[in-house]
Amino acid sequence: MSGNLPIGIHDLSLATTQYVLMYEALAAQNGTSVAKYHWGIGQRSMSVPAADEDIVTMAAQAAAPVVARHGADRIRTVVFATETSVDQSKAAGIYVHSLLGLPSAARVVELKQACYSGTAALQFAIGLVHRDPSQQVLVIASDVSRYELGTAGEATQGAAAVAMLVGADPALVRIEEQSGMFTADIMDFWRPNYLTTALVDGRESISAYLQAVEGAWKDYTERGGRALDEFSAFCYHQPFTKMAYKAHRQLLQHCGHAAAEAEITRAIGHTTAYNAEIGNSYTASMYVGLAALLDHADDLTGQAIGFLSYGSGSVAEFFAGTVVPGYRAQLRSEAHREAIGRRKEIDYAKYRELHEWSFPADGGEHPVPRETAGPYRLAGLFGHKRVYAAR
Ligand code: CAA
Repeated sequence: MSGNLPIGIHDLSLATTQYVLMYEALAAQNGTSVAKYHWGIGQRSMSVPAADEDIVTMAAQAAAPVVARHGADRIRTVVFATETSVDQSKAAGIYVHSLLGLPSAARVVELKQACYSGTAALQFAIGLVHRDPSQQVLVIASDVSRYELGTAGEATQGAAAVAMLVGADPALVRIEEQSGMFTADIMDFWRPNYLTTALVDGRESISAYLQAVEGAWKDYTERGGRALDEFSAFCYHQPFTKMAYKAHRQLLQHCGHAAAEAEITRAIGHTTAYNAEIGNSYTASMYVGLAALLDHADDLTGQAIGFLSYGSGSVAEFFAGTVVPGYRAQLRSEAHREAIGRRKEIDYAKYRELHEWSFPADGGEHPVPRETAGPYRLAGLFGHKRVYAAR
């Protein structure tokens, strides 16, 4: 057993897509003011996967630099969190395990609970490391957010993956033991097995999220968690960046604090930098927020960060992390900015073509044209089997 050994995030790397759609293109198509997207929901652009990209290619791209830096010898578990899985049975992480050449002496599993399961994966990983601190767990959160064309949800799409190496004596963020949990059976957002796009009750989803913030925080404080003013920043799940503002305002009001806008911006502003460009990445979104915070904030050494993970349906968890001395030397800020900056802008017609594209379900041979400039690609569907390749 590990006693008081610190456990947490040792490395963190993000990846996103080949393409980007600017909101000007969507606004022109929908006859909506672009100000609604820029200021109303707080988004600048959304990542759009090429036909030969998906949750697996993004995940492998995010995880490859982590494995290159630390090796794979200590990784005995890969936990892949997603709500846009590519198979009803096989864990997407097995494709990643194969693409990255991870050891066969490993367990690989996939987790689902809407946008929350990345946090479940992190907590399960901490439990495993607690049992054997010599092991590391590769946690991957990867999603492609898709709503039907022409719906209100369409403006809140996006795609990204985050890979985190979880271990003892972490180099980035130590995760504290107290956690506040909340579950409520609500149909605010869901995707039946027969649909490729999510269904959502937009207003209901926002109020369900806010209710969950209060519920998770209440449980966190009842279990002896930190006081609100001990945190120097907060990472929220960000379906759109303005949602983090709504959530933090709610938390401040719930705790009887003045919810001044400048104070809210100070607490969460940096966490929105990447999500505003990427859009909703479901399970990855809160950890994209953490990457942006670590990459952009002044020195956070020793400071406490609050995390509020929300997954519709709904499950939420509030927990805390402390930033580890020397963390700045481990950051991947340049690679993260490069991943976002290198995306190719597409017009509405190309976006629509990609949105409407899907594999025939006839069991035939369906190669996918080469599009991505990323290191891994989906080569096609052959006899009902997805085939991936290094580019
Ligand atoms: N200039 C500036 N602001 C404008 C504007 C303009 N011209 N026009 C509208 N706005 C503002 C509105 O006042 C509103 O602000 P407030 O929320 O502060 O009132 C904001 O822009 C959005 O406007 P609407 O509410 O009219 O927008 P909408 O009806 O198109 O719906 C949405 C917005 C509900 C977020 C919708 O995009 C949606 O359903 N998205 C998917 C669901 C979602 O993301 N829910 C979030 C919580 S659930 C969750 O977090 C899990 C998850 O990942 C899905």
